[in-house]
Amino acid sequence: MKFKSIEFKNDELFLLDQRLLPENEEYYVCRTYMDVEYAIREMVVRGAPAIGSVAAYGIAFAAADNPTEDEFISRCNFIMQSRPTAVNLFWAVKRMMDVVELSKQIDYSELLLHAKLIYDEDIATNKRMAEIGNEIVKENATILTHCNTGALATVAYGTALGVIREAHYSGKNIHVYADETRPRLQGARLTAWELVKEGIPSTLIADNVAATLIRDNKIDLILVGADRIALNGDTANKIGTFMLSALAKVYNIPFYIVAPMTTIDFDIEKGEKIEIEERSADEVRMVGNSRVAPLEINVFNPAFDVTPNENITGIITEKGIVYPPFKENILKIKE
Ligand code: MRU
Repeated sequence: MKFKSIEFKNDELFLLDQRLLPENEEYYVCRTYMDVEYAIREMVVRGAPAIGSVAAYGIAFAAADNPTEDEFISRCNFIMQSRPTAVNLFWAVKRMMDVVELSKQIDYSELLLHAKLIYDEDIATNKRMAEIGNEIVKENATILTHCNTGALATVAYGTALGVIREAHYSGKNIHVYADETRPRLQGARLTAWELVKEGIPSTLIADNVAATLIRDNKIDLILVGADRIALNGDTANKIGTFMLSALAKVYNIPFYIVAPMTTIDFDIEKGEKIEIEERSADEVRMVGNSRVAPLEINVFNPAFDVTPNENITGIITEKGIVYPPFKENILKIKE
């Protein structure tokens, strides 16, 4: 990898500050569980697997000053309320709390080791998903992607962008179209930055260009990530994903979700049960520091939408590609 998005060194957690890219490559340093909560809430770090990995270190920090059990639990809850949609956050916190439950002690060093385990697992998982996903990428494919699902959204490689990386490095002569992804521009600021850094042939488009490209037969494959997948395959991902999936269905374009098993919420039957985060009105009224709408205008700013399972061709996980019927096949790969 040409950069590290997350790194733990000498009791400090370094996060490549995603609010500042692509202009500045600066690290935000977390030293406490409160720093971690802030970093997730304010999107210093974002993307479901990255949030999970960072939250795990946050839980370790929460144990650093020998808190009482009640204090520790309230800190875990504090980290869990930082963002509501990506299930990897809750998965990681629960896994860290299970370590405490099992060993019957709130031990910083033990929790740190476990956070490192989650970190390393994410790298291996993404590598595996990239290899599996590459099997469905044809030579010379033109791939459309949305939001940022790369090494910034994970510990390394990425999910959908991990498959794209693998396809590029295996010499498939691919071309990528990246949606800019309003309102926070994860596509323009982050995916474009990763694509340029890797030298992957690519073109940045405004979100509203995708329909024209799809209609004109310019897209062979759509690859996106996920923040939470319900048992029936309904998938919450960055706002705008649903719109792409509907277009893909109309024009018969393969539409794949790339996500680790940790993004599947086995407790939720259907997408309508997934909590969708709503973010501040200023994300829409402003672009960077410039105001582009009257301050008085009402804004609706959901950060995610749910793609219904019938619009999804397959879900690429580290355990293989899941095809419909999703519920049956998701349950098959669970263990
Ligand atoms: O609001 P964000 O930037 O955290 O949203 C991120 C996404 O929607 C990604 O597509 C998703 O987390 C998958 S990342 C590998």
